[in-house]
Amino acid sequence: MLITVIGSGYVGLVSSLCVAEIGHQVIAVDSDREKIAALTRGEIPIYESLVPELLQRHNGKRLRFSSFPRSAVTASDVVFLAVGTPQSGSGEADLSQIEAVAKEIAPMLHRSTLVVEKSTVPVCTCEAMRELLVRRGAHPGWFSVASNPEFLREASAVTDFLYPDRIVEGADDDFSRFMLREIYRPLSSGAYYRREDAVPCPSRTRGRVRLLMTSAKSAELIKHASNAFLATKISYVNTVARVAEAVGANIDEVCAGMGSDPRIGSEFLRAGIGYGGSCFPKDVAAFEAVARRCGVDFQMLRQVAQVNEEQRMRFVDKLQRALGPLAGKRIGVLGLAFKEDTDDVRESPSIAVVRELVRHGALVCAHDPAAMARAREILPSQQITYAHDAYQAACGSAAVLILTGWKQFAKLDLQKLHSVMKAPVIFDGRNLFAPEEMAAAGFLYHSVGRPSPAVTRPATTLSGIPIAAGHSVAQIAAAAGQASLAAPTRPHLLLQPRTQNAQSPGAPQRATDR
Ligand code: UGA
Repeated sequence: MLITVIGSGYVGLVSSLCVAEIGHQVIAVDSDREKIAALTRGEIPIYESLVPELLQRHNGKRLRFSSFPRSAVTASDVVFLAVGTPQSGSGEADLSQIEAVAKEIAPMLHRSTLVVEKSTVPVCTCEAMRELLVRRGAHPGWFSVASNPEFLREASAVTDFLYPDRIVEGADDDFSRFMLREIYRPLSSGAYYRREDAVPCPSRTRGRVRLLMTSAKSAELIKHASNAFLATKISYVNTVARVAEAVGANIDEVCAGMGSDPRIGSEFLRAGIGYGGSCFPKDVAAFEAVARRCGVDFQMLRQVAQVNEEQRMRFVDKLQRALGPLAGKRIGVLGLAFKEDTDDVRESPSIAVVRELVRHGALVCAHDPAAMARAREILPSQQITYAHDAYQAACGSAAVLILTGWKQFAKLDLQKLHSVMKAPVIFDGRNLFAPEEMAAAGFLYHSVGRPSPAVTRPATTLSGIPIAAGHSVAQIAAAAGQASLAAPTRPHLLLQPRTQNAQSPGAPQRATDR
């Protein structure tokens, strides 16, 4: 099959490479000529595992790049649309790029062609696209439009494509169903997995590829509903973490207990400073807007977004309570990307925290293994310096903040880290360490939804103040003249001592009461 993929961003580029990998001829088209020229030379604009290998394998062979859609579209059996659908001011998805492409390709559809919507779009976009293509000159008998959403995660996008949990094929006619089945046959039949040069499966647990045939509208809804649900799970667990903090419970234990119920599942239950990236924030807002348009008040999604925003600010508040005013204080920041193993800083919770630190006058020294160049483009240059490693970022700092869950950070040499910091205070927004381990290493360690144990390593100092084993965080912070790090007074939820006449409001007067 010859497949044209319009849009060479994250989804477009990975899809182009992967459909070439499973055996199709592909032309990747993008209006950005510089990007196309760079890709043709083998230069890769994104940080994504296995993309370099696949580009080297297919560039100039099964995969070609072009800035001109006409020759590609007119020759193709299938056209994937993978252009951006950013968030507009009202929260709704901005579909202007999709519309522009539909208008451009309409006059080019001269033979049976399947147009596949790959971008994340609101429900009913396929229907609207069919109408638009006809209005712009495409003959209704020459094309079909189907929805085939992707579920690729940055950092594992290639293996997510090649070893998917499910492939959703949203088609409303037989031609679309047939073509979609043919595109993915190398995966659904297992033929690709029998190839000696196949990209290895990332986990043994992956079973057979499930093909889900649905209507186009259902497929569009599956994508929005899936992302919004995952975001909901994260905000839910972060809210539970707040309760755990208030009562001195441990969110890790709570999640282990919840997650072992297969109806709940253990994934996406990591508490922290919240979700970010180019998908969840945008898709939660867009899905809420879609529901509103349909007359449904999806209030829950507004709360999901609100909890997520608050989670970052609560983190900075906690830091301020510990250190007092941040103005002039040196803060080491570990992690700028929205998650580990990517250089993507779009809607990154780390970036939001850094902005807030800067707003309070802190002097930030940041390190990220991959995202510093991208962060520099969007962060103010004053008050922020960039370090070549975590220890340099921590050097002389009043506190270190862990904001992205890079594995490298979890493997830091704690003694070395301790020795370079001005005060051994760590705020971990990704719960990378066991609190006891950090206390034993002499750190005042704060994470999300877990108790902060007393420091158990003797003979350490905080700003010149000796810390003895067994000192609590609050004692040390008080000695250091910092605002108290003590947990808020814990509510005694059930075991309030009853006064003799205590009774719940509205409870009937008991006969024994005198
Ligand atoms: C997400 C979805 O997971 C993909 O299925 C989907 O295809 C993609 O959006 C998309 O729509 O294109 P992605 O944005 O790459 O993928 O990242 P995730 O791995 O889902 O993480 C999103 C955010 O949630 C990150 O900031 C991460 O740190 C955070 N997160 C994730 C948590 O805070 N806790 C968790 O337990 C899991």
